[in-house]
Amino acid sequence: MALKEYFEFSAPTKMIFGENIADDVGDEAESLGGTCAMILTDKGVTEAGLVEPVKESLESCSLELVEVYSEIPVNSEVEICNEIAEIGKEKGVDTLVSVGGGSVIDTAKGVNILLGVGGDLLEDWQGTHLVPEPLKKHIAIPTTAGTGAEVSLGAVIKHSPENQKISFNSKYLLPEVAMLDPVLTESMPPRLTAATGIDALTHAVESYSSQEHSPPSDALSYYAIKMIFEYLPRAFENGKDLEARGNMLIAASFGGIALSTTMSIGACHAMAHAAGGLCSVPHGIANAIILPVVMEFNLEDCPDRYAELAPAVGVDVSGLSETDAAKLVIESITEFIAEFSLPRTLKEAGADLSFLEMLTEEAMGDGQMYSNPREAEPEEIQGLFEKLLT
Ligand SMILES: [Fe+2]
Repeated sequence: MALKEYFEFSAPTKMIFGENIADDVGDEAESLGGTCAMILTDKGVTEAGLVEPVKESLESCSLELVEVYSEIPVNSEVEICNEIAEIGKEKGVDTLVSVGGGSVIDTAKGVNILLGVGGDLLEDWQGTHLVPEPLKKHIAIPTTAGTGAEVSLGAVIKHSPENQKISFNSKYLLPEVAMLDPVLTESMPPRLTAATGIDALTHAVESYSSQEHSPPSDALSYYAIKMIFEYLPRAFENGKDLEARGNMLIAASFGGIALSTTMSIGACHAMAHAAGGLCSVPHGIANAIILPVVMEFNLEDCPDRYAELAPAVGVDVSGLSETDAAKLVIESITEFIAEFSLPRTLKEAGADLSFLEMLTEEAMGDGQMYSNPREAEPEEIQGLFEKLLT
């Protein structure tokens, strides 16, 4: 394997795994040295009873729990970050505890920027490595197994007036602690299990083929893909299968560290961000639709990278050329995604051709596009969108 000329790797988030580990959040908050905590969550997570043990633990530790904000929408929004940050500032919050999926955790990251360094999210901080100093403490407790936001340095937050997805990337956005509790993911319905699981798969596959990949990200991505192929069907079939749920949480976090390390992973994510912002296609579903098409597009530029994934996706490629092996890998991933009965096209997911040019423009400008293994021209991305919109 060709040696990379240079890479950096750092994964400073403390990862704690265990059934009912969320009950110990108070101990973790104390050890971070905070005094005043706020829980950020959403209605669904609250109604499922998942916040209660976290709340009880924080109420019985030395920190003061001053706010439980449970109105975070399905897609995190800049305006909501501003609203929550005002509450946090007023109450002197120094420890954020996010309990939820990617939207909740990314919202907490946006709030943390505002609490830590102030300013305006859009004017001052969107982009990469702009946050100048450490922020408040953040403990992330994921209730889905997909985004890897609990261990990643990025946040994608919607800006409502233009329906754009704005990216923030900074090492200071990495939560101090990620608490992986499979019990909290038990109540996820099958469709959400599948969509979030395919998001995790896409992080791993795109990180593996990204121009920015490195040996540590390769190791994490490869293992994540292997785990997802083994455990996502089980978690989808039986939500109470805690072994499958636990392995999916771990796989999603590995995918999150991999994508955080590569920083920019590829065209599928760039296109999925555009489809999410402009057409409200849920992120995991957008990835499930777009990944096979992007892999086929990329094939000629990275057959070696795709072919290497054969054992992880359970195909025997002995005796085949690199390109034929890569084609089998793409076929295996496409069939795997199809098992979960998610929409197969963006049209089926509610988008239509009137968005074609906007989607293309948005995807081409997305930070995830630049390290796609094949350099893509706007008309090529437009062609891929067109195929998925008709
Ligand atoms: Fe993603």
